[in-house]
Amino acid sequence: MGIKTRITELLGIEHPIVQGGMMWVGRAELTAAVSNAGGLGILTGLTQPTPDALRAEIDRCRTMTDKPFAVNLTILPSINPPPYAEYRKAIIDSGIKIVETAGGKPQEHVEDFKSHGIIVMHKCTSVRHALSAERMGVDVISIDGFECAGHPGEDDVGGLILIPAAADKVKIPMTASGGFGDGRGLVAALALGADGINMGTRFCATVEAPIHDKVKQLLLDNDERGTNLIFRNLHNTARVGKNSVSDEVVDILARPDAKFEDVASLVTGAKGRVLLETGDLDAGLVWAGQVQGLIHDIPTCKQLIDRIMAEAEEVIAERLNAHLGSPPAKASSQAA
Ligand SMILES: Cc1cc2nc3c(=O)[nH]c(=O)nc-3n(C[C@H](O)[C@H](O)[C@H](O)COP(=O)(O)O)c2cc1C
Repeated sequence: MGIKTRITELLGIEHPIVQGGMMWVGRAELTAAVSNAGGLGILTGLTQPTPDALRAEIDRCRTMTDKPFAVNLTILPSINPPPYAEYRKAIIDSGIKIVETAGGKPQEHVEDFKSHGIIVMHKCTSVRHALSAERMGVDVISIDGFECAGHPGEDDVGGLILIPAAADKVKIPMTASGGFGDGRGLVAALALGADGINMGTRFCATVEAPIHDKVKQLLLDNDERGTNLIFRNLHNTARVGKNSVSDEVVDILARPDAKFEDVASLVTGAKGRVLLETGDLDAGLVWAGQVQGLIHDIPTCKQLIDRIMAEAEEVIAERLNAHLGSPPAKASSQAA
């Protein structure tokens, strides 16, 4: 049967399921597996150390799939920013047709991508930012609720409100992001007004995710309470998996006058990378969302996507359909 939406049509994919950009995780293995399974896989641009390395990774991904895939460009405040314009040029030169942007002030990137005919999906965590990205000319909004791994913003609005609030105002297609991991979530996202879902944490617990098995097991072992919110007092909130390092960061930043410098050495990307690659769960931060509470196995991307689609169709055709139509037998006999 299949579920067709504005997202499947626009992106040329079979199922309305997108794999969000993920630092150190969004490599060709995962991206190609998601795209081959009928979703949209996304390479994470800055995971590659240089723009040339990104070109090579795009080429490598093309040897693994002939389906559409995208590249994520995350623009975060940084003392030594990466050469964003050069990464952007590598993406454009490589003939990539879909880009996911995330972070602040994407205007110059959006304009350049759009002038090269690239479809731009922008990830935001508030209705006002979604509307401003729409005015900027992006093609798709990925609206990320408070449940999400990564940066949920400072408004603390969960998807149950954020998605329909955005759908009331945003005209372009939207993927709902944050907390999605199964077919029930996909149906809920569609019901709330989105055109598909974007998943991060759930795709980390798949066979093809290029991270250590112990990290995948952590995502299984943790439940929906297994996250910490860090950097709250720095107004740069991040939701990460609960471990000894994120607990320590929360404790340190709870002190009066705590500054970023007090935790800087604990939260480096390099340490997070060591955790993902070695499975040393106390090596650094691990990014993970509340959806850990819905993760109970480590399927291939194809098994996961097929299962989500089958479950979504079953929920619509049976569970929801059962609530429509004739009233319960007793009530109808009384009415007769
Ligand atoms: C390990 C990991 C790394 C991530 N890195 C990035 C990133 O570099 N850029 C970005 O835009 N989002 C990043 N995210 C956020 C995801 O793209 C996505 O928005 C988020 O995971 C959705 O919430 P969920 O985890 O509940 O599905 C990351 C998420 C995870 C789990």
